[in-house]
Amino acid sequence: MGRAFVYVILGGGVAAGYAAHEFVKRGVEHGELCIISEEPVAPYERPALSKGYLLPEDSKKSFIVHRVLNFGQIRKSLIVESSMALATVELDMLAQEIGSRVCGGEDDPARLPAFHCCVGTNEERLTPKWYKEHGIELVLGTRVKSADVRRKTLLTATGETITYKILLVATGARALKLEEFGVKGSDAESVCYLRDLADANRLVNVMQSSSGGNAVVIGGGYIGMECAASLVINKINVTMVFPEAHCMARLFTPKIASYYEEYYQAKGVKFVKGTVLTSFDFDSNQKITAVNLRDGTRLPADMVIVGIGIRPNTSLFEGQLTLEKGGIKVNGRMQSSNSSVYAVGDVATFPVKISSETRRLEHVDSARKSARHAVAAIMEPEKTTDFDYLPFFYSRVFTLSWQFYGDSTGDVIHFGDFLGNSFGAYWVNNGHVVGSFLEGGTKEEYEAIAKITRLKPEIEDLTDLETQGLGFALTL
Ligand code: FDA
Ligand code: NAD
Repeated sequence: MGRAFVYVILGGGVAAGYAAHEFVKRGVEHGELCIISEEPVAPYERPALSKGYLLPEDSKKSFIVHRVLNFGQIRKSLIVESSMALATVELDMLAQEIGSRVCGGEDDPARLPAFHCCVGTNEERLTPKWYKEHGIELVLGTRVKSADVRRKTLLTATGETITYKILLVATGARALKLEEFGVKGSDAESVCYLRDLADANRLVNVMQSSSGGNAVVIGGGYIGMECAASLVINKINVTMVFPEAHCMARLFTPKIASYYEEYYQAKGVKFVKGTVLTSFDFDSNQKITAVNLRDGTRLPADMVIVGIGIRPNTSLFEGQLTLEKGGIKVNGRMQSSNSSVYAVGDVATFPVKISSETRRLEHVDSARKSARHAVAAIMEPEKTTDFDYLPFFYSRVFTLSWQFYGDSTGDVIHFGDFLGNSFGAYWVNNGHVVGSFLEGGTKEEYEAIAKITRLKPEIEDLTDLETQGLGFALTL
């Protein structure tokens, strides 16, 4: 049994959705393109899963929707008020995260089909009907269990062999399990990970049955921070546990981290730092009752969320493609060591021009843009130059919202009002600005920090940069 396609996208996440959109824009013919995904649904905007998806069902009663006219553009703010939390979410580029709840002025938690790709960039929503209308085969709920890049074939778990001329690998990543750190208990009912829709549905159920109870969040990275905020909004008491001295240690400076930690503490979140989970306590029904930490602390727990990092899904290609920094190594056209195989999104390690090194990025903007770029390189090779990507990360929790561009290397210059809600930082390496961070910025301010990070201006006097602060970016 088998089918043959010109183009196959392996994986059905964010990068797959944006790649499909780009294939259609560039005139792919009906029947030429196929997407194979282990997930049972068409590609969607994964960031929604730790934000709008986790809003409480009854939040509707207390939502107030404001529409704000700003600089001649219609922009909408959604103010989410509950007894525990106030969250302001600006529309513009982020409608995706809460899907039609914002787009349509509705106020339920985000659910599919509202946040299928490509609502994240305010483009059309690619529902299953869209794929059908464009003659794209969606092979859903199907895991590819082996790949042969020499024969250009993929073997699915259902026993089908699918052949391609060009393969786009968009397999993303999987959540690291506690077992990989020697701790047992991941399969317990109230231990939650968050990578896909099935995880998110499970998490919603566990949150609903833990209302008013205690949650322990393991990990102080993106999942930990965003889920902790959602737990608070769901009226669950939260303790965060992580091994580092402060949250978001991969990106935040201690000064930036302490702002967010104090904000979370004011919402009732407790932090236990510099230690890790060693075991769970269970009752006679195998329900978790507590977590035990290496430092001897025992924390009562009705539920646990684990966000301890990811591993890119490269195993199908080990020994067949060159791997680097944990991902599939690609060139500036997103082409791997096999010229018929391209890789994009979380699984790809690509040259980042502005930092003159290869990097693997685990963020949605990179997934979207690398996917579009690969398709351009496949469909119009002569017109496509090397990918020139400025790394961009962001997060939104409670009323807070930050953006970061570039590289977090070198000296850090903080600026702004750390007691208010608008502050930031520049990273200066070898005399040039290489990274910028801003909390609470306007659209124009975020654009300004992105621009200066790309321009990499020379900095002669760090004190002067500190004094000018955001003004430096705004006047450049
Ligand atoms: P993605 O993980 O989206 O998709 C991979 C796909 O491949 C999945 O459908 C998977 O099932 C499939 N697959 C894997 N192996 C397969 C196989 N063998 N056979 C068939 N299918 C297979 N980033 C950001 O910048 N801002 C944010 O706010 C967030 N928020 C956020 C929340 C949550 C909960 C998560 C988990 C992640 C984020 N991210 C984020 C990160 C962002 O979502 C991530 O970078 C992109 O989803 C990466 O897109 P990919 O398409 O590369 O992988
Ligand atoms: P992460 O890399 O952001 O954070 C992992 C955290 O795990 C570390 O900060 C550390 O505190 C903790 N940790 C590591 N080992 C541990 C251990 N043994 N015990 C306890 N804690 C340990 O990864 P994540 O938070 O799991 O996020 C997963 C992926 O989802 C990442 O790729 C991330 O980029 C993505 N994501 C991004 C966003 C966003 O960009 N806004 C939001 C959600 C998820």
